Amino acid sequence: MSATSDLKGDHSIVRRISKIARGYAEVIYSSNSVPADDVKKVLILIEMFIDAYHHCKEECSYFPLVNGTVLEDEAKALMVEHELGRRIAKMLRSNLDLWLRDRRNSEPIARMLKAYAEYLDLHMEREERFFSSYDESVDEERQKQVIGAFNTIRRERMDGVRLNSILTMLDELEGSLAKMMAK
Ligand SMILES: [Fe+2]
Ligand SMILES: [Fe+2]
Repeated sequence: MSATSDLKGDHSIVRRISKIARGYAEVIYSSNSVPADDVKKVLILIEMFIDAYHHCKEECSYFPLVNGTVLEDEAKALMVEHELGRRIAKMLRSNLDLWLRDRRNSEPIARMLKAYAEYLDLHMEREERFFSSYDESVDEERQKQVIGAFNTIRRERMDGVRLNSILTMLDELEGSLAKMMAK
């Protein structure tokens, strides 16, 4: 497997997180109440899977291989977008904490969930275009080195047990959302 297909595999999980974030934004907008435990789980998915694991693979070992090539600027721009994602996630967390204290204003939580989903969708679209150029410029042998680095990150941050708990959380959130949307 190439490093690029490994990241594309992660993107299929990231896409599910994006749909969940969008779904909860709709639920909060229409009900004016916050299923706080579910939103906390969304934050765990964002922080553990997207930020600590997937973004780290891209930033620590995948992007650096194009330094000094025509693709370097685009890799840097994608990293700047990661920062935007981190900022939105931070605002989501602080708005949730605020709501948990006074249960007054649910709108900013819905807005941040929607903004995060929009960030993810646009970012992945741009990144997948970058992936095609990357495959043209980084040969198989060099991608194998990246895979070696991915395996180390996986052992440290996303072992089998952790991945299973992420997948269970995704199933549970999709299940609860489907029930809430059916009401
Ligand atoms: Fe990315
Ligand atoms: Fe990505």
